Parts: sequence; C-alpha cells; structure tokens
Amino acid sequence: MRALVTGAGAGIGRTFATALARAGYAVTAVARREDRLAELVAELGPGHDFLAADLATPDGVRTAADRLARGRYTLLVNNAGAAVHGDFAATPLEDSLAQLDLNCRAVVALAHAFLGAAEPGAALVNVSSTLGHTPKPGLSVYSATKAFVTSFSETLWYEQKTRGIHVMALCPGVTATGSQQGDDVPDWLVQTPGEVVRQAMVAVAGRKGPVVVSGRGNAVLTGVARLLPRSAVLSLLGG
Ligand SMILES: NC(=O)c1ccc[n+]([C@@H]2O[C@H](COP(=O)([O-])OP(=O)(O)OC[C@H]3O[C@@H](n4cnc5c(N)ncnc54)[C@H](OP(=O)(O)O)[C@@H]3O)[C@@H](O)[C@H]2O)c1
Repeated sequence: MRALVTGAGAGIGRTFATALARAGYAVTAVARREDRLAELVAELGPGHDFLAADLATPDGVRTAADRLARGRYTLLVNNAGAAVHGDFAATPLEDSLAQLDLNCRAVVALAHAFLGAAEPGAALVNVSSTLGHTPKPGLSVYSATKAFVTSFSETLWYEQKTRGIHVMALCPGVTATGSQQGDDVPDWLVQTPGEVVRQAMVAVAGRKGPVVVSGRGNAVLTGVARLLPRSAVLSLLGG
C-alpha cells in the first residue's frame, strides 16, 4: 500500500501521514517546506519519502503529478489547501487566484494523474470543508473552492465506482490546526486533526461516500443549514 498526502507538513495532512504510516502505508509527504517534511519522514521511519513542491504553481503540480503517474500509489489524499480571509473586493486578486490554483487546479491535476494510473481497490480522498455546503462571508473564494471540491468528488465517486476505485470528499468543520484555532466557534464544535483523520480512515476502509462530514455536530449543522433559506444561512455565518 502506497499513499501520497499533500499538505503533509502540518495539521490534518501531517496527521494523515502519521496515521497512514501506522496503518502500513508507505507514505510520500508533499508540501513546500522541505525541513518540516524531512523531520516528518524521519519520524515515520524507513520506507517513506517526501517531495517538496509548491502546488499553487504549474511546476509544483507537474512534479507531484509525475510522481503519482509513476509511483503505483493506492491512495491519494488531496489535502493541501489555503484560505484568504477578508472581504473579497478588498483583498489582493493574486491571493484569491493562488487559492484557486491550490484548492482547485492542483486537486484536479493530481486526481487526474492518480486515477490514470490507479488500479481497482485504490482510493482518492479530496479534503473539502463544511464551508463547501455553507459558504461563509469573509471566506468567499475559499468556500467556493470547497463547493467545487465536494461537487467534483461526488461525480468522480460515481464515475470510478465501476472501476472499483473509491472517491470521497472529506468535509471537516473547524479543526484546531496551526492555521485555524476555532476562536469564533464554540468548543464543542472544534475537532482535533486526530479526530478528523480517525473518522476519515474508518470512512475510507468502509468505502463511505461520496461526501463524509466529520463530527456529529458538523453533520447536524450542515443538515439543518440545508433546510433553511440560503439568505438566512449567510446572515447567520456572516454575523
Ligand atoms: N483547519 C480547519 O479548520 C479546516 C476545516 C475544513 C477544511 N480544512 C481543509 O483541510 C486541509 C488541511 O487544512 P489544515 O488546517 O490542516 O492546514 P494547515 O495546518 O495550514 O497545513 C497546510 C499544509 O499544506 C501545505 N501547503 C500550504 N500551501 C501549499 C502549497 N502551495 N503547496 C503545497 N503545500 C502547501 C503546508 O505546508 P507548507 O506551508 O510547507 O507548504 C501544510 O503542510 C485544507 O484543504 C483545508 O482547507 C481545514
């Protein structure tokens, strides 16, 4: 079993890499900062490797896609993602476009490389977000990229199941990582990366999908939000 995890230097991706190594996968950890990846791979022990690549750039995506096409991977965790906070019109356009490149373009390109080489039994996890269901003012482009990731994963789930390849969108809610402390939500709603990854691993093993919302609280809130008028949900999240 061989897994490639993007955004593996920190947060949910690092936790995925550790859990997968423990579960017997040979892990390739991908992110930009080589020092963090080297430290992670040393921690994981022999049989694992890393690839330093900026997935918001065409070169970085090409390098990772080449690795996937040649590496006989059985699992891809498309986890790397970034969020630009603030009013869309007041934030630099380049930041929003870089977010699109990382959260959408890289996910599509790596999924394509992986699925082109994957064999029956393989699995693809695209890390989306509950904000893909309930867009949050102040995170406009981020929410839209996650809606894209969820929708993309749903159709891939359908297309790939006849090949015996499982595709899943994993939708965490607020998760306490370096980039997100969850200060603006109640404690009971904040998950740890360990909780998110544990649930994801069970879901992959059980071929659950196409969309897995992590955490009971997030699942209930996402379900309730579907029943409310869209304008009311936007007002609640924007307030
Ligand atoms: N935390 C949350 O509350 C939350 C909630 C819902 C969904 N999510 C999603 O879960 C995923 C992981 O989030 P997280 O909070 O664990 O993130 P994080 O703690 O900020 O870690 C992000 C990881 O991605 C890497 N990365 C960032 N930009 C990159 C780039 N351009 N190319 C390659 N690697 C890059 C970072 O390493 P380098 O900086 O070294 O590249 C790091 O290893 C994301 O897709 C996020 O949208 C998170």
